[in-house]
Amino acid sequence: MYYPDDVIEQVRSSNDIVDVVGSYVHLKKQGANYFGLCPFHNEKSPSFSVSPDKQIFYCFGCGAGGNVITFLMKYENYTFQEAMQALADRAGIKLPEADYSEEMKKKEEHRKMLFAVNKETATYYFKLLRSPKGATGLKYLTDRKLTSDTMNMFGLGYADGAGSDLVKHLRAMGFSDDVLLEAGVAAHDERKGLHDKFWNRVMFPIMDVNNRVIGFGGRVMGDGKPKYLNSPETPIFDKGRNLYGLNLAKRSRKDQYILCEGYMDVIAMHQAGFTQAVASLGTSFTSGQAGILKKYVNGVLLSYDSDEAGVKAALRNNGILKEGGIRARVLDLRPYKDPDEFIKNAGAGEFQKRIDNAENSFYYELRMMEKDYNMTDPAGRTDFTREAARRLGTFEDEVERDNYISAVAEKYYINLDSLKKLVGSYTDTGVIKPVKRPMRSDTQGKTNENTATESEFRDQAWLLTWMSADKDVFTQVSRYIKPEDFSEGLPREVAEKFYADPEGNTIASIISLFTEEEEQNRAAKLFNAELVLPDEAQDREKALRDIVYSVKSHASKRITDEAGGGTDAFARMIKSRKELEELAKVRFHVRGTET
Ligand code: GTP
Ligand code: MN
Repeated sequence: MYYPDDVIEQVRSSNDIVDVVGSYVHLKKQGANYFGLCPFHNEKSPSFSVSPDKQIFYCFGCGAGGNVITFLMKYENYTFQEAMQALADRAGIKLPEADYSEEMKKKEEHRKMLFAVNKETATYYFKLLRSPKGATGLKYLTDRKLTSDTMNMFGLGYADGAGSDLVKHLRAMGFSDDVLLEAGVAAHDERKGLHDKFWNRVMFPIMDVNNRVIGFGGRVMGDGKPKYLNSPETPIFDKGRNLYGLNLAKRSRKDQYILCEGYMDVIAMHQAGFTQAVASLGTSFTSGQAGILKKYVNGVLLSYDSDEAGVKAALRNNGILKEGGIRARVLDLRPYKDPDEFIKNAGAGEFQKRIDNAENSFYYELRMMEKDYNMTDPAGRTDFTREAARRLGTFEDEVERDNYISAVAEKYYINLDSLKKLVGSYTDTGVIKPVKRPMRSDTQGKTNENTATESEFRDQAWLLTWMSADKDVFTQVSRYIKPEDFSEGLPREVAEKFYADPEGNTIASIISLFTEEEEQNRAAKLFNAELVLPDEAQDREKALRDIVYSVKSHASKRITDEAGGGTDAFARMIKSRKELEELAKVRFHVRGTET
C-alpha cells in the first residue's frame, strides 16, 4: 500500500531525526551537526553525522545515508511501510486505512487475532516458568547452563501438566475455540474435549524479525517423544520463510550469520556472545530462508551437528546458499556433537577459533566428495578430478572460477592447464548450467537503469551538495544547469524536486519520495558529497566552474548520443553545445573562507 505524499511528509516531519537516531546511537553535537559511531559499519572514530537542519543522516565512512524513514528501514530492517507505521505510532499519527478489499480486511483481522493468541500464550508460559509450577522447567534450563537473562531474552517459558489451563485462560480473554485450534496452542479429542497442546515442555516462542510471536517449539522434559513439538504452519507462521533468532541476529550488525540446527544451539551461542546465530525451524533449510538471509548478510557460517545427518544437511544447504548468492563456510565442531555442547565444553574463545578457521564450502564439498573415490588409484583420481571440474564449472563468475581452479589444482596436485581445459569443456558445451543467481530486487534494476556513471553521479552530487549548502551558488548555477541536465532516473527526479523548492529543509522530504532503501541512500548521497573546497575565493570559483562545466558537458554528450536524427533532437543538440561554449566563459562569484 502506498501512502499519499503529504501523509509521508507529515509522518517524517513529526519525527525529529536527531531524537530518533539518538535513541539508537550516542550522538554528540559538533558544529551544526551531530556525530556518532556509525551503526552500519564497524568504526572506532565517529564518521556518522546527523543534520538537524536537513533532517538527514550520512556516514562519511560507509556512505549510508537518508532521512529518518531510511534510518529505521536500515536499522530495524523494516520495509518502507513498517518504518512509516513505527514513526506514525511514535508521533501519535493515525495512518489512513489501507484501501483493502473486504476480503483482505478479513484476512488482516484474522492474522491479528493469531498474533494476539500467540502473544498471550507466550506470556502465559513465560510467567509459568517463573512461578512455583515452573520449577521443573527452570531446573532443566538452569542445568543446561542458561542464565535467567538469556531465558528472558528468548522469552522462554514452560507448559506444565496435561490439562486445559491455557485453554481456560485464553477463552476467558475472549478468544474463540477455533482460533486456539488454528494457532495450534490447543488440540481436540473426544475424551478430553479442547485441551492444551503443549505440556511437560519448556517452551521456545518463535518470533519473526519484528519480534512478534508466530509459533512455538516445545522441548519435552526427559526422553519423551517427540523431543520437540512445534506449532503447525498458520497464516502467520511460515516455517520456510522465518529463522529462529533472526530478530536478535539482525541487531548484531555482523556481516556473516551463523546458521545452526537447533533452538538450543542458537540460544547457547547468543549467551556466549555470538549474537549472529540463527536456525531453521525444525524443518529443512529452504531457498526462501536463503533469500531472507541475503537481505542481511552476504556470508553464512554453517554450524551443524558433526554427525552424518549434519554433514548431509551442510552439503545440501551449501547448494541452496550458493544459489541464493550467499557465500558459505563450514565450521568443524569435532569432537563435540553440536554448537551447544561445544561451547559448554570448550568455551567461546575456542569457538571463535573455529569460526576463524572455518572451511570454504567448496573445499568442504570436495573433501567430503573424496570419500566416494579411491584417491590412491589413478582411475579413481581421474573420476574425482572430472567431478571436481564439473563442479568448478558451476561458478558463474569467471574470476571466481579461475581462482578456484588454481586453488584446487594446487590442493590436489592436478596439472593447472589440464584442469582449466577440463572445466572449459564443461562450461563450453553447456553440459552444466551455471548456477543462476536469483533476480536482484527492483531497486537494483532501477539503479542499473540509471544512465549515470559513477563519475557523472559524483559530479552531480558535488553540485547538488554545494547548491543546497549555499543559496548564492544555487542562484547562479541554476541559470545554466536545469534539472534535465541531470542523469535520467533518480538524479533527475531529485534535482527536479530540489529546484522546485531549493530551501534546505526539503531535502529530507525529497528522500522519502523513494520507498526503497537503496534509492533513499542514493538520494541522500546526492546531498552529501565530500566537498573539499579551496580557501581562496578565486580557486573556489574555478572549482565550481569545473563542476558545472563537467555536468553540462555530460548532459550535452547525452543529448548528442540520443539525437537519433530527428530535427527536434538535432536542435536540442545544437542548443546544448552553444550553452556549453557560453559556460566556458562564465564567471561565478563565490566567497572564500576569509569573508
Ligand atoms: P537438545 O537435545 O534439546 O539439545 O536438542 P538440539 O537443539 O540439539 O536439537 P536436535 O539437534 O536434536 O534437533 C535440532 C532441531 O530439530 C531442534 O531444535 C528442532 O527444531 C528440530 N527437532 C528435533 N527433534 C524434533 C522432533 O522430534 N520433532 C520435530 N518436529 N522437530 C525436531
Ligand atoms: Mn543439542
